[in-house]
Amino acid sequence: MEKILVLDFGGQYNQLIARRVRDNGVYAEILPYTVPMETIKKNGYKGIIFTGGPNSVFDMSSPHYAKEILDLDIPILGICYGCQLIAWMAGGVVETAPVSEYGKIELTAKNSPVFKDVPEKSIVWMSHTDRIAQLPQGFEGIGLTEDCPYAAMQNTDKKIYAVQFHPEVTHSEYGNAVLRNFLYEVCRCRGDWQMDNFIEITVEKLRKQIGDKNVILGLSGGVDSSVAAGLLSKAVGKQLTCVFVDHGLMRKDEGDFVENTFTSLFDMNFVRVNCRTQFLDKLRNVTEPEQKRKIIGTEFFNVFWNEIRKQNNKGYFAQGTIYPDCIESGKGDADVIKTHHNRVNLPKDVFFLDVIEPLADLFKDEVRKVGEKLGIPKELVWRQPFPGPGLGVRIIGEITAEKISILQNADWVLRDEMAKNGYEKELSQFFCVLTGVKTVGVMGDHRTYENLVAVRAVTTDDFMTADWARIPYDILARVSNRITNEVKGVNRVVYDITSKPPGTVEWE
Ligand code: XMP
Repeated sequence: MEKILVLDFGGQYNQLIARRVRDNGVYAEILPYTVPMETIKKNGYKGIIFTGGPNSVFDMSSPHYAKEILDLDIPILGICYGCQLIAWMAGGVVETAPVSEYGKIELTAKNSPVFKDVPEKSIVWMSHTDRIAQLPQGFEGIGLTEDCPYAAMQNTDKKIYAVQFHPEVTHSEYGNAVLRNFLYEVCRCRGDWQMDNFIEITVEKLRKQIGDKNVILGLSGGVDSSVAAGLLSKAVGKQLTCVFVDHGLMRKDEGDFVENTFTSLFDMNFVRVNCRTQFLDKLRNVTEPEQKRKIIGTEFFNVFWNEIRKQNNKGYFAQGTIYPDCIESGKGDADVIKTHHNRVNLPKDVFFLDVIEPLADLFKDEVRKVGEKLGIPKELVWRQPFPGPGLGVRIIGEITAEKISILQNADWVLRDEMAKNGYEKELSQFFCVLTGVKTVGVMGDHRTYENLVAVRAVTTDDFMTADWARIPYDILARVSNRITNEVKGVNRVVYDITSKPPGTVEWE
């Protein structure tokens, strides 16, 4: 299989570069700039991409690479820091730019294989404080902006190209064309990469790494851990044990669905820890949202690690960490943006040979594609986000078994109606909230005094902001009718018309 090397100099978008290359049908792997030249020579790459990075090439403590890489007769594309590095390595001059360029900038492109089908003027995304002041010998300028005379350069004899802007981000209008041109016009790739290859390669790698040892995976029923479980099962079958902590705060029948799916579709040991009563005991009389969250989180890990101790596995520990979880925790030489909690810290008294994260290079939509290829049901692969504390943060006030049951039933009706009306894919998230309010109503000739359920449905790109979904009135009417008729204990339904901000998606 054809491979492109993404040589990592510590930029924030490095994974995105690899992802765009894969999207264009060529496999890409990322290696740190510390990788020995011998490894690069041995691996038979069709091309190398030097990534961006936060440093200045003329600072000797910055990441550099042996100059001979430019003479390997492998096509190279430098991006941002990578572009400056090529200029510097080849004897050009890089300086601090009098004007830094950030954001959308107009590029004037000249004739070049990497600018095939790119108009003379286009918008590119820039983020740099240094620039090339003098081209190295053998190179010609092929692009400029108002403040950057050499925003792109090439040495066609050596098949080396470099761009100051970021072609991997969608803000660069023709960025994908530049990457595609590099792959197909310069590297002459055929484009033989598909998700099936990822599964094959990963399964092979996992088999090699795990050997005859065992692996334990914490399965939440979410997309990431489910797909990781599918891959591991394909690789090592019964050597895999999935531990599923059922705290009773999942949606109706979801615990059974997860168990049935994994025990019937995949070869593995499946341990379901039923601890519903234990959670309810801990949550008795607790009404404060943060306290609820803390109790559920702490109890979850208590149960989980106790089960792991019991298993006494002594093999590997696997997690469904995906790429966005890694970058936020700081990976490679990228500057740490913020610490993310999706990676589980192992307690000191639990021993594992190593932690395995088979999805750590993929983005969410790639993970979903893998899940579909593995035959994981659509309900799991396309599952909407579900908060860690589950229905616990959708029951306002104290959590009881009865309230969980009312909420699960109301929520089930909503899900059913959304599915029947084709609204599932249009909405980013939808659910019911048991508001903790009781209202007076009338049913038949009788006065009722029952629960108020709120329906929440939002559309969003990133969950940082969200808008309430404009669901047609007649669908809302059906949802309301069915909930009040079919769910015992509910006599009124309201629709939440608050955006985020000022509201949040969840009520607690
Ligand atoms: P908020 O309520 O903060 O929710 O607007 C934004 C998104 O995050 C989900 N959410 C959580 N996810 N653990 C999670 O993994 C949590 O504790 C948690 N709380 C909220 C929420 O469902 C929405 O998709």
